[in-house]
Amino acid sequence: MDHFDIVIRGGRIVDGTGTPGRPGDVAISGDRIVAVGDVGPGRAELEIDATGRTVSPGFIDAHTHDDRLLLSDPDMSAKVSQGVTTVVVGNCGVSLAPFVPTGRPPPPLDLLGVEWFRFPTFGAYLDELDAKPAAANGVFLIGHQTLRVREMSDLDRTATDDEIARMKGHVTEALQAGATGFSTGLFYPPARAASTDEVVAIAEALRPFGGLYATHMRDEGAGLEQSVEETLEIGRRAEVPVVISHHKASGLPNHGKVEKTLLRIAEAAKSQRVSLDVYPYSASSTVLLPGRLNDATRVIVTWSEKMPEVAGRDLDDIAAEHGVDKFEMASRLVPAGAIYFTMSEDDVQRVLRFAGAMIGSDGLPHDPRPHPRLWGTFPRVLGHYSRDLGLMPLEEAVRRMTGLTAAKFGIKDRGVLRVGAFADVTVFDPATVIDAATFEDPIRPSPGIDIVLVNGQPVWRDGVSTGARSGRALRRDGLIA
Ligand code: ZN
Ligand code: CU
Repeated sequence: MDHFDIVIRGGRIVDGTGTPGRPGDVAISGDRIVAVGDVGPGRAELEIDATGRTVSPGFIDAHTHDDRLLLSDPDMSAKVSQGVTTVVVGNCGVSLAPFVPTGRPPPPLDLLGVEWFRFPTFGAYLDELDAKPAAANGVFLIGHQTLRVREMSDLDRTATDDEIARMKGHVTEALQAGATGFSTGLFYPPARAASTDEVVAIAEALRPFGGLYATHMRDEGAGLEQSVEETLEIGRRAEVPVVISHHKASGLPNHGKVEKTLLRIAEAAKSQRVSLDVYPYSASSTVLLPGRLNDATRVIVTWSEKMPEVAGRDLDDIAAEHGVDKFEMASRLVPAGAIYFTMSEDDVQRVLRFAGAMIGSDGLPHDPRPHPRLWGTFPRVLGHYSRDLGLMPLEEAVRRMTGLTAAKFGIKDRGVLRVGAFADVTVFDPATVIDAATFEDPIRPSPGIDIVLVNGQPVWRDGVSTGARSGRALRRDGLIA
């Protein structure tokens, strides 16, 4: 009789490839899956009854800002409570390493807080994660904004050849240490003045490693189509795969534009490697930028350094109370963060239906009143969009958060339930799984997630963290396809 560490019995296996679910068991020994299908009567240290449940690969959050969360809140409850077992960090040009500031780092770097920027090299950051593991695995990007703030005295211009050479050096160091790619946030003030040539020059450092380029594009509003062209150009010229982050059309006059950009991206994908991620909400969230207010029909403050008591309230109400307009109020609140209602629900659904769209939360884990995407993204796609609205079958929803993402980021032996893969597994109830986090009450775990295993160890069970920290800092492994 076989002996296993864990057997998950009697569930419906949705394996992350998109193929139809089928009944079966999953057996685990150590950190690997050793049998899938009918496991038979073998004995196990832990038997999990998955009757009526779906058994899938642990979800991969394609777009996060969890660089610091991995260290400061290693239980990772916001993520593992959703069934997420791997987070891609360092997005939007913001990475925690390599940077040791002398004062407060400028927005949006401060979305990671101000205390935790203490790694002079990317390798030092990964070493610390090896020494103090979290409950979830990490995949790492190095951020262009972090590098500009570190290397440039004046951010209002494009970088000089010398500065570009130094930034390239950091990208090379990070990729050598195991990072998977390089990200930009060309929309944000510290990077806005960077030319396309600057980004291409730095991204060229990725090529020898087969790293990828991910971008929060220069303009997700009026200039959305030009920004997609710029991104595709950077990918072609640097000869690297590109990921368009949180694809959306922002601002009323731009609603509907994703119809065109998705066609363009699908066309481009025939000749270059391009993919995208999306979160399932029609409101965005980032630092409070007074210039951003015109695009939004409603703005909720998520944090403020000067007036912490207003977190969670509408900017219009706060402004009215102070007898000033929203722009003046915003300038009194900064440094601060906000949620912006800027998208159309139709567009959100268009992007979600796109077969190449990976699911990424873009959650901001250090905001006292965060956007609900931080706690709700994955159950919302499974429960609201797949089951309730029928946007895509469950198997396809799971593929967009597992197998597809693992393939695009080159994450080896994860994202698919098969013999030999790492035992990152999520068991959930497809009939009840749903997001509970709302804009009014954003810090709530989702019902319907039974048990979550990371590298063969339960990290979340029956609504609570187990305290296990079996996540790993995943190093890029070979070229990305
Ligand atoms: Zn972003
Ligand atoms: Cu982001």
